[in-house]
Amino acid sequence: MNSLPRSLQGARVLVGVGGGIAAYKTAHLVRGLVGEGAEVRVVPTAASLEFVGKAAWEALSHHRVLTSVFEDVDEVAHVRHGQQADLVVIAPATADLLARMRIGRADDMLTASVLVARAPVVVAPAMHTEMWEHPSVRENVAVLRERGITVLEPAVGRLTGPDSGPGRLPEPEALLDAARAALTAPRDECGGVRRDLAGRELLITAGGTREDLDPVRFLANHSSGRQGWALAHAALVRGARVRLAAANVDLDTPPGALRLDVGSAAELADTVEQHLHEVDGLVMAAAVADFTAADRAESKIKKDDADEDSVPAIALRRTRDILRHSVLERADAPRPAIVGFAAETGGEGTSALELARAKARRKGADLLVFNDISAGVFGAADNSVRILDREGEEAASAEGSKTAVAHAVLDELLAHLPEVS
Ligand code: CTP
Repeated sequence: MNSLPRSLQGARVLVGVGGGIAAYKTAHLVRGLVGEGAEVRVVPTAASLEFVGKAAWEALSHHRVLTSVFEDVDEVAHVRHGQQADLVVIAPATADLLARMRIGRADDMLTASVLVARAPVVVAPAMHTEMWEHPSVRENVAVLRERGITVLEPAVGRLTGPDSGPGRLPEPEALLDAARAALTAPRDECGGVRRDLAGRELLITAGGTREDLDPVRFLANHSSGRQGWALAHAALVRGARVRLAAANVDLDTPPGALRLDVGSAAELADTVEQHLHEVDGLVMAAAVADFTAADRAESKIKKDDADEDSVPAIALRRTRDILRHSVLERADAPRPAIVGFAAETGGEGTSALELARAKARRKGADLLVFNDISAGVFGAADNSVRILDREGEEAASAEGSKTAVAHAVLDELLAHLPEVS
């Protein structure tokens, strides 16, 4: 699977490894971080070395690995790497490690590093389902989250034994995406991620719809789903609950998101309608087909070999404008806040920005994120957007990785969310 665009270049990342079998997956995470130009220091717990040894971490991170607070004491190594970190990622975190972090212990190199870090801390727990669901663990997780630590939801699936359920370490690509989101998020007073979306629920649409013409062919677009994914990761690290309507997206599900897979524009429209009144915000990042086949052929459309110039006539009809429809459905209700996207190229004497301004007024969403795609942007790593209000006036602009753009959109969305009762 692909990962989201880069934003980890030059970041000092401390990777903590807890004593679980999933530590082998963390090797891929370290590789990914180093591959993106991050400066990585691995801090394994003593128990984790039973699963993956020191030599592996030294080879992958290109740095010495200290496993005891009594090594390199003259350089005060047990606090230096934590203090210098731009980001801390702990994967896997065992139930024991979560408990030690919750009570603020500093009895090994990793817990001591966490206490001195003034940076976002992303924790990826992995354990058997019974442990994850135990009230002690639930409570520890809740307390850590309240303190601004990003504790990711484990993935659901096959565990080490014959059992399965929630408890798997998310795939390394999903961990990398969460790391990017945390690194670029707004900060609280302790340097952690500001949880300004805690208690909020967002419906984010991502990807591009596909309209079947016959059993083998479809009309589609170039949307990769990356901007929607970046929004989901960004919202999750800021504490939101996320429902992610994914139209044909080939990316690992962000840990904790409720993924709702859809294919066509009609399926997406149904999904949005079903969830619209249950969420605080709707972010329409999906590229939705404006036209679909008037009649989907039941069998494969054949060419006429006798007439080389003949082509089939495929009749199209309009799809529902989900964004406009959602604005009308909301009517005067205070929620959800609604954000649309507009990718424009401009043309025939009208600039892309003018078209976007007119679209903002026409659609009536609270915000419209305008992307000038004259130079091409689909699938690209970086993005440059202007965020327009419903009068077409510029409320904000953002440039950089799709994750950075996602945070800028969420910053603006915050102002439109209804008061928390
Ligand atoms: N959108 C939608 N339903 C559609 C088409 C688009 O909800 N059938 C949403 C997109 O998710 C996006 C916004 O509307 O948030 C603008 O999409 P865009 O394709 O730029 O707008 P269109 O209304 O299709 O305008 P155009 O005539 O430029 O194609």
